[in-house]
Amino acid sequence: MSQTNKAAITAVGGYVPETKLTNFDLEKMVDTNDEWIRTRTGISERRILREPGKASSDMGARAVEEILRKKNLDPLEIDCIICATVTPDMIFPATANIIGDKIGAKNAFGFDLGAACSGFLFALHTGASFIESGRYKKIIVVGVDKMSSIIDYTDRATCIIFGDGAGAVLLEPSKDEDGFQDAILKSDGSGREYLHIKAGGSLKPATVESVLAKEHYAFQDGQPVFKFAVKGMADVSAELLEKHNLTGDDIAWLVPHQANLRIIDATANRMNLPKEKVMINIQKYGNTTAATIPLCLWEWESKLNKGDNLILAAFGGGFTWGAAWIKWAY
Ligand code: UT7
Repeated sequence: MSQTNKAAITAVGGYVPETKLTNFDLEKMVDTNDEWIRTRTGISERRILREPGKASSDMGARAVEEILRKKNLDPLEIDCIICATVTPDMIFPATANIIGDKIGAKNAFGFDLGAACSGFLFALHTGASFIESGRYKKIIVVGVDKMSSIIDYTDRATCIIFGDGAGAVLLEPSKDEDGFQDAILKSDGSGREYLHIKAGGSLKPATVESVLAKEHYAFQDGQPVFKFAVKGMADVSAELLEKHNLTGDDIAWLVPHQANLRIIDATANRMNLPKEKVMINIQKYGNTTAATIPLCLWEWESKLNKGDNLILAAFGGGFTWGAAWIKWAY
């Protein structure tokens, strides 16, 4: 029997574009206001990738390059790149492959993983399982979305929420028992009616009519998504704690998907966690879909200590949701 290892995150990288789109900018574009957006979502501004010719792979590559620099890692050593995104550069090939090309990861295989806002969590679980199998030693997991490429900036139901960004982690075999401990992941495809893009897939290929009807933009029926998200993210986080006999006192940090501050608060309350233990940067970046969780890890990296218990939790389109427990490894 081959020896199995735990998988540990050993480095984090991130990238957000420089251009800010503030609530006050949005006030000039749609019928909304700063007060409504802040009180209903917690968002004040978000970042937008404006440069022509730049796509998700460019942000993802920047996040991975930071990891290469920090770890002095030769890209030829990377075994695999898993890219969680709903805004790939193209329908195919995979954005993971394009990131691999841009960073020089000539020996890596790669693929994209589509689980919307839970994408990073699902990809992290997949990458950790690859390491645990003993087959691979260095896996890059990227969460990236250029949401501005699928947002209708005349639709106040969506344009106030989303932003662009990328985060990435390096997974390696853990030297001890720290690292990825467990995850509970869930999907329910019946939720697709509330959050989706109508056209551009095999169900409804692009036509002049679909473009004119704005069917290539993200559609969200916010209220039902909100209700499912509050329950789904809180329930699964509590379930994971109970499964391992953990309480809020054992947890150093909750790392929640940043969709809405009210959903984050509900999850933290259910876990009996004070606000000081919750990573929140939604006010600066909005909802960057697959990038929210790694961007939190990126921003809080210097405050994390070896052995800290982290609960990562997400809810997103699909519906997809889940929670993961990791013991920080450095
Ligand atoms: O990350 C993927 C998963 N996505 C989520 O988790 C998002 C979940 N949903 C949400 O976060 C919230 O539903 C939204 C932030 C999208 C909307 O907040 P809400 O509290 O559910 O608002 P609502 O749709 O119930 O609308 C409340 C009121 C309505 O006016 P009346 O009917 O009460 O007079 C809306 O017309 O707010 C109005 N409204 C707005 N007003 C100003 C809706 N959108 C806006 C807006 N600006 N952008």
